[in-house]
This record gives sequence, C-alpha cells and structure tokens, in this order.
Amino acid sequence: MDNAFINAIEQFNESEWLTAVESVLPAIHDVDRNAVQIWFRFYPLDLVRYLESADDVEKAMKSVSIGGDFGLMDKIDSSHHFLYGHRFWPQIKSAVIERARSAEPFTCLKTEITNIAKLTAVAAKTNESLTTAIAAVGLMTLVQTGAEEMEKAPGTVIQPEGVMTGSPDSIVAARAKDDSQGVFGFLKTVDKKFSVDFTASAFAGRFSIINDEQITSASRKSHDRDWQSLDSRCWDGPVPIECTSASCGTCWVGVLGGQEKLSPPSPRERRRMKVFGHIQPNDDYPFLRLACQAKAFGNATIVIPPWNAVFGKEVRGNVEELELEPVTTSAAKLRETIASAVSGE
Ligand code: FES
Repeated sequence: MDNAFINAIEQFNESEWLTAVESVLPAIHDVDRNAVQIWFRFYPLDLVRYLESADDVEKAMKSVSIGGDFGLMDKIDSSHHFLYGHRFWPQIKSAVIERARSAEPFTCLKTEITNIAKLTAVAAKTNESLTTAIAAVGLMTLVQTGAEEMEKAPGTVIQPEGVMTGSPDSIVAARAKDDSQGVFGFLKTVDKKFSVDFTASAFAGRFSIINDEQITSASRKSHDRDWQSLDSRCWDGPVPIECTSASCGTCWVGVLGGQEKLSPPSPRERRRMKVFGHIQPNDDYPFLRLACQAKAFGNATIVIPPWNAVFGKEVRGNVEELELEPVTTSAAKLRETIASAVSGE
C-alpha cells in the first residue's frame, strides 16, 4: 500500500510525533496519559530509522548496544498491552488500515489521531478519552510496520487482569493508593513497606519495597519466578539490571502511576538518560526513570520495556564524547566469567 496518506504520515520525525501526542493529552483519560507517552519512548521512531538506514543492521545494533527484544514487527498486537485502550485494538487497527487505504488527503497528526479515536469510540461504544491514546499508538504502528504487516497481524487482545479489569477511574485510584501501614502506621518512620506493581511483555506481578529503597534493590529480592526464562535480561529479579549505578541503561522503566512517590532524578540520572537516548521529561517527577536510581516513598506502578540500548550519541547526536562511559559493566563481566568457568570454556 503506497498512497498520499502513507507518504505524508511518514514525513514526520519522532520529535514531531511527541509534540502531536502532547497536543492530544488533555483529551486522554488519566489512565492512559502516562502510558501513551511511555509507549512512544519504548518505540522511538528515530532509532528505528537509524537502524533501517544502516547498510549492516547487525553492526548498527551493536553500535548502540541493543539488548533484549527491540522493535515492533513481532509486537503489532501486543506492544501496547499496558494501555487501558489496548482492549480497543481490533477497532483501532481496522480504523487505521481503512484510513491508510482511503484517498482522503492527510490533514495533520493531531486531527488524524482525533479522527481515529472518534471512529473507534463509536465502533466500541465507548468514550473518546479512552481511545485517543491507542489511536496515536495505532498510527505510529502503521508508520513503523507498514499497512500490509499491520493487516496481517490477527488483532488479538491480551485480556486484562487484576486491577486492569476495573473501570478507568478505579485503575487510576488503585495506582495512587499506598499500602496500609496498619493501625499504628502513623508511628512508623523507617520500616514502612510499600509495593511496586510491574508489567512487562512476558509477565506481570508485584514486589514489596521498603521506604527509601531503590526499585532495583527491591526487585532483586523477588525470586518467586524464574524471571530469566521469560526475559534473558532478568537474571536477578523482574527488573532487568546490570550496573545498578546509572552506567548501562538496562533498568529503564516507565512509571504508570506513583511517580511523585519516587525520589526525583539526580543530575547524573538526567545526564545518563540523555546518553542512553531516552527522552526523559524535565518534570520533577518524570514518568521515565532508571529503576536503579529511583527510591520509593509509596506505591508505584511501572512498566518494563522489552529492550535497552545506548543510542544518544549515534541517533540523537546530543552527547559529547566525554559524557560517555563504558557500557560493559563489572556485573556483566563477572557473570560472563562465572558462566564460562561453570561451562569449563
Ligand atoms: S542497572 Fe545500569 S543503569 Fe540501572
């Protein structure tokens, strides 16, 4: 499928898409306001285009140290599992493909997102505030995968579980709530305990966190599943880690709720996020964090991306040589040494 609409929508870069998403935020229910902005950071168009334009993709992937499972091609129906609007994916997918086929001239990103959201809300008998986020995701999925691939995807929806089965308002309220500290909780100072709810492509769950503890430190105590069999980067808990010192970028996460109950990013975290290539908002309590740098003072809900990389310099061109640190960490090296010693290599 190649037409004026596709040609027009392919002209926009990532920054223009982020601006368009920001412009529709007021129309999006709270339940998906962070989620949609996180999704656009999990699937960064500029990185996709950098890799697409490389003569040797494998070499280009190595140059930005991609770990995990990058890309949308095999996740057309599932990448947005953490959005409330994911449940409207079949209707969004149909509306986006129909739009891609139509001869109607392209208007602007904001109007195209809004129109898809309106059509879908009617088809799904729901409110546009719940379809606008997933409409933006649908259009970007079209850009990154192409209409043919999108059409081939079966459109399967992952059934919501736990708190996500509730109403949008109840989900927002649940994310904002802290665990009870018991009858005498108000007397507690250092031993308050909270929870981190997490969701990833292959798993979801919850672990406890002590007041003022880093998310990764709490995650490392969670051994109730073989996380590594689900994501090879999860060798010590459900949150992928390597360095635990803001050096490698492995532990980046999106915060769906409770970001104001995490310690604000230090200047080092902000600098390193730039080096890794992630567009972390300048807010005091941004929705994109390094889990090894964020300490919790209440409950938080996070989403774990399926990949990590260091692409600030190559893709965004926003990093000086002197800001770079070696990506390979002592933790990774130590594990490699142990693995080769065990295998006798
Ligand atoms: S684990 Fe390396 S940046 Fe957090």
